[in-house]
Amino acid sequence: MKRNIYITRRIPDYLLEPYQEKFNFRMWQDSQIPVPKDVFYEESLKADGILCLLTETIDYDFLNHASHLKIIANTAVGYDNVDVDAANELGITVTNTPDVLTETTADLAFALLMATARRIVESSKFIYDDKWSDWSPFQLAGTDIFNKTVGIVGMGRIGTAVARRAKGFNMKVLYHNRTRNEAAEEEVAATYVSFEHLLAESDFVISLVPLSEATENMFNRQVFEQMKESAIFINVSRGGVVDEADLYEVLKEEVIKAAGLDVFVDEPISGSHPFTKLNNAVLTPHIGSATKETREKMLTLCLDNLEATFFGEGPLTPVTK
Ligand code: GLV
Repeated sequence: MKRNIYITRRIPDYLLEPYQEKFNFRMWQDSQIPVPKDVFYEESLKADGILCLLTETIDYDFLNHASHLKIIANTAVGYDNVDVDAANELGITVTNTPDVLTETTADLAFALLMATARRIVESSKFIYDDKWSDWSPFQLAGTDIFNKTVGIVGMGRIGTAVARRAKGFNMKVLYHNRTRNEAAEEEVAATYVSFEHLLAESDFVISLVPLSEATENMFNRQVFEQMKESAIFINVSRGGVVDEADLYEVLKEEVIKAAGLDVFVDEPISGSHPFTKLNNAVLTPHIGSATKETREKMLTLCLDNLEATFFGEGPLTPVTK
């Protein structure tokens, strides 16, 4: 029996093609704008499974309303947009997309680190603004990356991939995690340290912690004040782990040197967001896993999860709490 799947954003037909015999797909036809709540609720009544993005809020109310629903396939490794406890309680499976985006997200973390340290965006703007009239020793001078110390907060798959890149720059790698990651210690010679030690010693602090009650606002003024004045903060996990008002203040007051941010509390942010007024912030619009290859892999993993749940041995990458 074919199953009904609702997809919350327009995705290319060639990705759906291999699954057409097993599923009746219905899809929100816009590739940019999220599905409106009333349409989503209406469509969910007919759906056995949903393929959604991190822009959809999947809460108890929604899960309770969608009476046929067996599975939510979330196109992201993070799943803070889904109430997993409620889903578990209602017997609905939740899946995410680990592994397939690890290297791509680590690339972006390192790209932000480099862009921030070497003031790439500011330097590019310098030319566009027609300010390049001469050459001088300290014009747009940034800070070195090689031989420095990187502190990774949240040492999972992506953290380990970032550390591998850091090794190529001969960096010392410190990390802090809820539990020690001995595999990473072995693979990338990362050293486990306390959060306080990491903050005090790192030239670059990279946030890779998932958003949860325990991590919400964990990077606040009191934490930034423990970093070096020359420290650069990079966030590629979730905006909510940062107290943005505090970060804005510490960047403005130069309590820390700079920040590279891919994620924000209320996305999308506009061109008038306070961070855009800072010269020492590099901002990207949540593009951590945004390469064509990886986005195809993420969507295919969601479709494989749907297929394995309804026609195979069960979900491939279920989320459990
Ligand atoms: C993106 O932010 C993800 O969680 O995959």
